[in-house]
Amino acid sequence: MSTGRINGDIISAKQFTREQMERLFDDASALKPVFSARKRLDDARGRIIATVFMEPSTRTRLSFQFAGVAIGASVIDFGSSDMSSIAKGETFEDTMRMIDDYGPDVIVLRQRVPGNAARAADMCDAPVINAGDGSNEHPTQALLDTFTMRELMGKVDGLTIGMMGDLRYGRTTSSLSYVLDKFDDVTVYYIAPQELKMREEVTGELHNLRYESVTRPDDIMEDLDVLYVTRLQKERFTDPSQYDALKGSYSITVDYLRKFKKVPIIMHPLPRIDELSVDVDALPQAKYFEEARNGLYVRAALLKQILNV
Ligand code: NCD
Repeated sequence: MSTGRINGDIISAKQFTREQMERLFDDASALKPVFSARKRLDDARGRIIATVFMEPSTRTRLSFQFAGVAIGASVIDFGSSDMSSIAKGETFEDTMRMIDDYGPDVIVLRQRVPGNAARAADMCDAPVINAGDGSNEHPTQALLDTFTMRELMGKVDGLTIGMMGDLRYGRTTSSLSYVLDKFDDVTVYYIAPQELKMREEVTGELHNLRYESVTRPDDIMEDLDVLYVTRLQKERFTDPSQYDALKGSYSITVDYLRKFKKVPIIMHPLPRIDELSVDVDALPQAKYFEEARNGLYVRAALLKQILNV
């Protein structure tokens, strides 16, 4: 396995070595003051990044685009699928072949179908970055989440993390599990109603992580360093009545958190719906907007590595 710089396709969070992640996080940290001062770099001048989002996105798409432009690259956005020939019935394969033929230096792809990022990578000459493939994975989100923990806590080893919400359909929590598995002495509590339990296909791939599934966070809240909250993935429910039944089944509010002697750092990949109340934003432990901003630094560092600039 390679160490050092990350290059080529980014399909799964399983592919990163700890050395690669530490190096990426160091690079991202170094970019922070540059971005905070709104300085622009020209390292990637003349390079073209194609952002192809076939599912809704705010943060992932925009942070890749801002990061790309800020390091000097040009960004071409595919636009919405409704406005492309996909709306006329063109296949995913033909669409990806065409985009790749125009010669981008990297393709950032979000797709509805699990496994389609890997499929695109097989077809395309340009490196493909998986920006979310259905309920499967979201590796760059896991990198920025872990970077955020490292920035806040100084290290990732030894942390105890609660992942709460829709672990059945969530892709951020599968990828985050794979990343945390590369660190030492990390404990994860998977907090979800029975119907939304973490998938065995994910836990079956974990080697180093200690994990336990619980249905409520009350008994473990004070043990947590981080509570990572996620929304119900409404668009992935095949039975809308199951979504309705589970809606509102968990919710983090200041009132709820008041019962605990110690409140952990609160993270969330966003968007939030009703599982994380806006009154939590005022707590010093609320770090989800900082987490989203970290996406910029981590994705800029990642693009620089992949573009080799
Ligand atoms: C996540 C996603 O798209 O999987 N959002 C994001 O990228 N920040 C989480 C979600 O949609 O719930």
